[in-house]
Amino acid sequence: MKVCIIGNGGREHALAWKLHHSPSVTDVYVVPGNAGMTSIATVVNLDWKNRDTLLAWLLDYKIDLVVIGPELPLIEGLSDAIRTVGIPVFGPSQQASRLEGSKSFAKDIMRRYEIPTAKYEVCQDVETGKGIIHQWGVPIVLKRDGLWGGKGVTICETFTDAEQVLQEMLSSSEESVVIEEYMRGQEVSLLSFVDGTHVLPMIGARDHKRLLDHDEGPNTGGMGAYAPVPELDGTLEQTIVDTIVKPIVKAMAEEGHPYVGCLYTGLMLTEEGPKVVEFNARFGDPETQVLLPLLQSDLGVIMHATAMGQLEGMSLEWSKQYASCVILASEGYPQQTLTGQRITGDIHTIDTVSMVFHSGTTYETDHYVTQGGRVLGVVGLGNTLEQSLEHAYERVSMIDFEGQQYRKDIGESSIGFCIHTQYRKNSIDKEYN
Ligand code: AMP
Ligand code: GLY
Repeated sequence: MKVCIIGNGGREHALAWKLHHSPSVTDVYVVPGNAGMTSIATVVNLDWKNRDTLLAWLLDYKIDLVVIGPELPLIEGLSDAIRTVGIPVFGPSQQASRLEGSKSFAKDIMRRYEIPTAKYEVCQDVETGKGIIHQWGVPIVLKRDGLWGGKGVTICETFTDAEQVLQEMLSSSEESVVIEEYMRGQEVSLLSFVDGTHVLPMIGARDHKRLLDHDEGPNTGGMGAYAPVPELDGTLEQTIVDTIVKPIVKAMAEEGHPYVGCLYTGLMLTEEGPKVVEFNARFGDPETQVLLPLLQSDLGVIMHATAMGQLEGMSLEWSKQYASCVILASEGYPQQTLTGQRITGDIHTIDTVSMVFHSGTTYETDHYVTQGGRVLGVVGLGNTLEQSLEHAYERVSMIDFEGQQYRKDIGESSIGFCIHTQYRKNSIDKEYN
């Protein structure tokens, strides 16, 4: 089977790597791909926005399956266009992608189908919004309605802050603002393969969305992840599948927009039970970078069955290990990023304890330089969560570029202490003993 992946980030690098190792897959192409993928896939210099050229290329190369990585092409209807030329696609239709593309669409369908989520109101004018804020109290969450790459959400701790953010959001774009009740609890992501009707859940993963340690600083696309999440046991996962994932898949089908692809459910484990924070219409990044190294099933087979509506009776095999990912980001991320910095260290070797996925790198003459906000996803594997974190941070210590920022507390919420500090202490002890 010839598979073409659309996208150029760390998620697509992980997908390309896993598909390259899938027995059912003979060729992997990536449009437009990135500098880190050239040894495992054919990087095709095409712009997916140029639809006619892309469709002609897919037909010319007799591609059997297209996998759409990021949200933007999905929300712009690329999967529908590819389906019209008869090629199976892993990725939801434009209508179904609104689960991610419009917060108000997602909240409305959850309300109508009684899927547990935070209380909300959609607001178009400042006075109504202020009224809701004062009625509900702080902290309160304000979300821009459209696609903002995880950066359109602000948690406001004070009334002054909330009023200011509301005013700013409503005056700087045409979109409405979703005001949400603040939920307390631990977050977890559950990704599922969905073929329109059937749901095949993966294992749980946990992202770290804030830029700085201990969940300080602005929201980002994601600064690190680990899987599986010890708190998400089989019973809790089944509750999430039964009360949230299956009902939303059924709802989408009933509304005439069957969902096909990876459904990302972002959850808050509240005292009242799991509630939806958000849906994404795709694999999460960096969650994919920790999930795929643990998946033992043939990803090509699963993705093709998903695209063809044939998931019934299928199951997934997982390794018994843990995986952790630490994102190395550029100076200034997530605001103004400084790129073009020379990267030193081994950013290629994949072995049994660590691997590196590229998000924002480019190759110049004889070395790699940074070319994006998130630059590399450094993944560690181990028999325990602690060991996988140790392997990830060990690999991180061998890679460098000017202005590099990364979180030191990945995994701390599950294991209760900071592996990075311990790892640094052990290295210093070793050096002096
Ligand atoms: P979203 O893009 O909707 O996932 O929001 C980004 C992040 O903001 C989430 O991962 C949460 O950490 C936080 N967040 C969003 N909505 C809520 C909420 N209602 N209560 C608490 N935290 C939230
Ligand atoms: N890791 C969060 C996301 O992919 O949106």
